[in-house]
Amino acid sequence: VTEEKPVTSLLHLDSSASPLDESVSRQLTRRFADTWRAQPGTGGYTYRDLAAEPVPPIGPAYASLGRRVQSHGVVPPGDVPEEHHEWTLTRPLITELLTADTVLLGVPMYNFSIPAALKTWIDRVTFPGAFVDPDTGHNLLRDKHIVVVMARGGGYGPGTPRADFDFQTPYLRAYFTNLGVENVSLVEAELTRAAAMPDLTAFIPLATASLAAAHTTLDTLATSPHPQLGNDLHYETQP
Ligand SMILES: Cc1cc2nc3c(=O)[nH]c(=O)nc-3n(C[C@H](O)[C@H](O)[C@H](O)COP(=O)(O)O)c2cc1C
Repeated sequence: VTEEKPVTSLLHLDSSASPLDESVSRQLTRRFADTWRAQPGTGGYTYRDLAAEPVPPIGPAYASLGRRVQSHGVVPPGDVPEEHHEWTLTRPLITELLTADTVLLGVPMYNFSIPAALKTWIDRVTFPGAFVDPDTGHNLLRDKHIVVVMARGGGYGPGTPRADFDFQTPYLRAYFTNLGVENVSLVEAELTRAAAMPDLTAFIPLATASLAAAHTTLDTLATSPHPQLGNDLHYETQP
């Protein structure tokens, strides 16, 4: 018996304000996506540019709808037009996320944290109860593979003077841990501004090494069997 190959899908989100030729995070997510899509068993691909097409910030009706859901469980948006509007903006983004097996995020460090464009998406998509199957209580995000690709102009490694200033990595780790996602890969390219800033030129070799390490990690992740499918999954089974 030959089983049909499972087809997995990728949701690719970028949040850098810079275009592809000037953005390290965009170039890295593009590399991952191209490699991932060339693998057997991969199929669906959705791309969303959160910087070019910003998700609207949440409004008061989003908050009131969320509070009602938290108090009463799943409820329809009701007769309030503003709530319908908020839900219309929110629901497709949630569906897009739940449809994907692998979620790829390109995340520059902006002012020690993540870009507002990404935070706005997070605030909208993280609607109360949205990631729980209402029938089974199953966590719908648990088995997803999240690949976070971070780029930052400076260096924030352990023991460096600015190590405590990194609110990008701990924030994203806390966010996905809290959602119960078990498979999160955090990949970083540091010192991306070293070549452009005269007082950072001494760090060019470290920047080059950091970028090379990010390439290696992303190529490994993109060519590994989908973690959700298990490393020893066989597509063909004996009769
Ligand atoms: C608005 C803004 C804020 C930034 N803040 C920081 C920062 O706090 N720390 C840092 O190391 N680099 C900072 N940078 C530099 C970027 O993190 C760096 O250029 C990175 O490569 C951006 O990602 P990208 O190449 O994908 O656009 C900032 C850049 C911009 C545009």
